[in-house]
Amino acid sequence: MKKNIIQKILESHLISGSMQEGEEIVVSVNKTLSHDLSSIIVAQILEAVNADKIQVEKSVFFCDHNVLCTVSDNADDHHYLKTAAERFGIYFSKPGNGICHTLMCERFASPWDVISGGDSHTPTSGAVGALAIGTGGLSVAKAALGKGFRFKVPKVLGVKLTGSLNPGVAAKDVALELLRRISVKGGLGKVIEYFGDGVSNLSITERMTITNMSIETGATSGVFICDEVTREFLKAQGREEEYKPLVPDDGAQYDELVEINMSELKPLAACPSSPDKVVPAEELGDVKVGSVFIGSCTNSSYLDLARAAAVLEGKHVHKDIDCVIAAGSRQIFEQLIEDGIIDILVKAGCRVLECACGPCIGIGQVPRTNGVTVRTSNRNFPGRSGSLAADVYLVSPETAAATAISGKITTAIELVSGEKLEKVSKEPISHIDDSYIIAPLPDEERRQIVPVKGPNVSDLPIPEIPAGDLNTKIIIRLGDNITTDDIIPGGAEIVRFIANVPAFAEYTFCYEDPDFVKRAKEFGSSIIVGGENYGQGSSREQAAILPLYLGVRAVIAKSFARIHKENLVNWGILPLTFIDDEAYEIIERDDEICLKDLEKGIQEGIIEAVLPSKDVTIRLKLDVTQEDKNILLAGGELNRLAQ
Ligand code: F3S
Repeated sequence: MKKNIIQKILESHLISGSMQEGEEIVVSVNKTLSHDLSSIIVAQILEAVNADKIQVEKSVFFCDHNVLCTVSDNADDHHYLKTAAERFGIYFSKPGNGICHTLMCERFASPWDVISGGDSHTPTSGAVGALAIGTGGLSVAKAALGKGFRFKVPKVLGVKLTGSLNPGVAAKDVALELLRRISVKGGLGKVIEYFGDGVSNLSITERMTITNMSIETGATSGVFICDEVTREFLKAQGREEEYKPLVPDDGAQYDELVEINMSELKPLAACPSSPDKVVPAEELGDVKVGSVFIGSCTNSSYLDLARAAAVLEGKHVHKDIDCVIAAGSRQIFEQLIEDGIIDILVKAGCRVLECACGPCIGIGQVPRTNGVTVRTSNRNFPGRSGSLAADVYLVSPETAAATAISGKITTAIELVSGEKLEKVSKEPISHIDDSYIIAPLPDEERRQIVPVKGPNVSDLPIPEIPAGDLNTKIIIRLGDNITTDDIIPGGAEIVRFIANVPAFAEYTFCYEDPDFVKRAKEFGSSIIVGGENYGQGSSREQAAILPLYLGVRAVIAKSFARIHKENLVNWGILPLTFIDDEAYEIIERDDEICLKDLEKGIQEGIIEAVLPSKDVTIRLKLDVTQEDKNILLAGGELNRLAQ
């Protein structure tokens, strides 16, 4: 059989199961990553199960989200993570070293890896030929303990790239074009394989932008073939020996195929408030903008900032615009300083932030009320910028820089010559700085370390083991595409409580329904009702943990986003779907509901729900694997790991 690269990687890591589409398999994981918001859970779980040491080649804790430390809670969390990393043999990347996905590609990821990561944009490492999958902290902890990663054999969506990008058009426009064509749902249940003649025209950092935004299509991951460009990137990072070719067999089959001729693309923009509301940027010329952010794990490479500088050189940021920039890693930042790029950007009026996520997750640079902001990041859901009353447009660094100059959405080619933009070198940076990475200690020293928990680190909630009937109430009825940001928003004020479940839980659905927490406490136990694609967006596990803490026992939705469904199962919350979607119309907030005989229902995958006030019975489906059922029957994965 002719194989594509996804099949090749999966087969090389297969532990159990059969490689038939839709079948559940377990694959070995050789690297894991998590950041300060997800590492907390990984560390808490490693402690809770009395682990001695991680059992994979490399695990890394990065600190990139909550690095401002405006309150001592954050610094306490970082210290806990550093000491837990030292205890369990994990690399620790200090705050300020950069964004996890940028650093993972630069310093850790290799072709043919399978990486489990506690962040939805983990697939960024697919740029160097790793099958990198975003998941919850619980799954990362399991993988780090050598238990592999369990998932269904995905469909493979082949994206054939041909041609090359014209000046002023960027890799971001390739990612946006794919979203324009297949939407935020087009990748569900699939892994994207990027191949074709055009791939060799893309640098690794351009490929990172594309794999990074693969997740926005709903895909499980995105992986590029490996070629000489991959080898050169690894060589520049002192890791050439990790290079291994990775190409599909001639005649390899794909479940679906999309072809993008990059030569035909124009600069694009995703309009508020979804990454797939994509239009040509030139059609938005009348949109007046208040702020611009060039950075995030999508667009913070040397090339991104050097191209932005090529646009801004000799010009100045518009008087009505705040323009901030942030490099993806210290080593990129240092190279930008050496090459005079930062000098150009600062003289052009840009403000320089540290190498971290920052505005991407609403930690700093929250737009003004009803403001319009143009960003190079990957998501523009309501509230993602830290304000519900802001419109976020997603564009490339070139378009962002041109917009910063003109004050309204503008493409680079309207302001500078193509020759100038093309002069920016695509060569990978060879600057290496590992001074902010703390490597694991020898075993004798490691075992002496006791992780230091600050007062902001609480215990994790333990789910109830399902038994008998569940008599409870509907606490909320939501529409389609509810994101994990809707369930628990980002922003510095909120995520400071990331390790403190009771305090963090107070913000559950705080924008969507300010009385949610009050009702949850009154109800004791409850059920959430949602529409299509419930739990899309960030892999934020707290979107399962906090409802669990507040008594939520099940979510009934028309469909679920993959990572969130996995998180619900891991945390013992039943992810149920309607057998007949019309039942969604019957259920109302505050309805009493009885889920009959939970153990039998979980085993059989069908649960009957009685709504006594409406005198109706509806049938619900538990569409999960047998292993998921075992986890749910045990009261969640933490209960099982502890046993
Ligand atoms: Fe950070 Fe935003 Fe990426 S929060 S990991 S820069 S999606």
